[in-house]
Amino acid sequence: MFLKIMKITAIQAQEIYDSRGYPTIGVRLTLENGIVSFSDYPSGSSYGNHESLELKDGGRRLRGKGVRDAVHIVEKVIAPQIMGMDVENQPEIDAKMIDFDGTPNKKRLGGNAILSVSMAVAKAAALSKRIPLYKYLKTFFPINGLKLPIPLMVFIEGGKHADYSSDFQEYMIAPFAGNNFAEKMEIALEIYYCLKEIVKKRSWSLTVGEEGGFAGKVCSNEEPLEMLVLAIERAGFIPGKDIKIALDLASSEFYKQGKYYLPKDDKVLDTQGMISYCQNLINDYPIFSIEDAIYEDDWEGFQKMTAALGDKIQVVGDDLYTTNPRLLQKGIRSKATNSIVIKLNQVGTVSETVESLKIASENKIQAMVSQRAGETEDSFFADLCVASACGQIKSGAPCRGERIAKYNRLLWIERELGIR
Ligand code: PGA
Ligand code: ZN
Repeated sequence: MFLKIMKITAIQAQEIYDSRGYPTIGVRLTLENGIVSFSDYPSGSSYGNHESLELKDGGRRLRGKGVRDAVHIVEKVIAPQIMGMDVENQPEIDAKMIDFDGTPNKKRLGGNAILSVSMAVAKAAALSKRIPLYKYLKTFFPINGLKLPIPLMVFIEGGKHADYSSDFQEYMIAPFAGNNFAEKMEIALEIYYCLKEIVKKRSWSLTVGEEGGFAGKVCSNEEPLEMLVLAIERAGFIPGKDIKIALDLASSEFYKQGKYYLPKDDKVLDTQGMISYCQNLINDYPIFSIEDAIYEDDWEGFQKMTAALGDKIQVVGDDLYTTNPRLLQKGIRSKATNSIVIKLNQVGTVSETVESLKIASENKIQAMVSQRAGETEDSFFADLCVASACGQIKSGAPCRGERIAKYNRLLWIERELGIR
């Protein structure tokens, strides 16, 4: 049968800005049929050591965070390599960029230059086929059906995302109640309004962190948990049944030479101390998931954590894996965790992200597709989440446009799929 290929004819890049006001890279890709796609690169605040490198200009302009070099690389180095290639050949295009870069962490071309092209390729292919992005991405996941996720919403935020707040980075609620995504959103919002009242009563300002969660002057790392339980109850839901809590401790940010420093609790803990701390938290609060409880290069520590708590909660690796298929395989072999966070820009291409999602699914590792601290209104990962059918998404608070853009996208996808 004659298969028509659709060639890439132009690629432009532009320095744009993310939700923190930092420069990031945007790509505009054109096909021979006139289709144009756009993609924006998301960027983290708490980086994992093994992430693909986000190429920044350095120097004095925009505090060194400019991406003019990456823009130049997209237009003058990557574009000539993939121009004329078939837009539907995502694996070959990604492989070409990976080979041409030739480094383990994409430091020559920059993960930001590579990923923004990779995402623009997938979007253009979907547009060219006149199907929504999630349906196109589904072709990479032929086994599972399409599935709307449970949103893990950051309601209170600390760590590197919010000065003066908790030592831990994210306190999330997960609505298990609700028959579909729209209902889960409604439930989450009812709780969010109650939390806002509680926040005001505690004389916190309504300041929010980088992902839109309330960021107040907490008395201890447990205070946000008490507040979440209170808000869930005030909204008329049952903590632990209707609504569960998820945490991202992002512990590499308060780890130093074998010790975890928790100034908000006046505690310094070793690895075993950290595991016992988590054990106590899950005894006292309806927590079903804890991310990055252990320092990112301490595989043994993660193994111990999973051995101790893995049958009760999701022990999630984010900075541990950085969405890298090779590190995930290592984690599966060594039983380091039972869950993984998936972020496109940690590994740096759509194809490698898909590979990690597939490995997770084949090995019964729970995956959650996630935002970064620095986002734009680009909602690529919401479509990816539905296509992979992994069942969980982290897109921050129901507040701030770049966060709500993903939830709103999921509402439209659900409508299109006719799930009500
Ligand atoms: P980051 O935060 O984007 O700063 O890495 C998100 C997370 O750790 O899950
Ligand atoms: Zn994390």
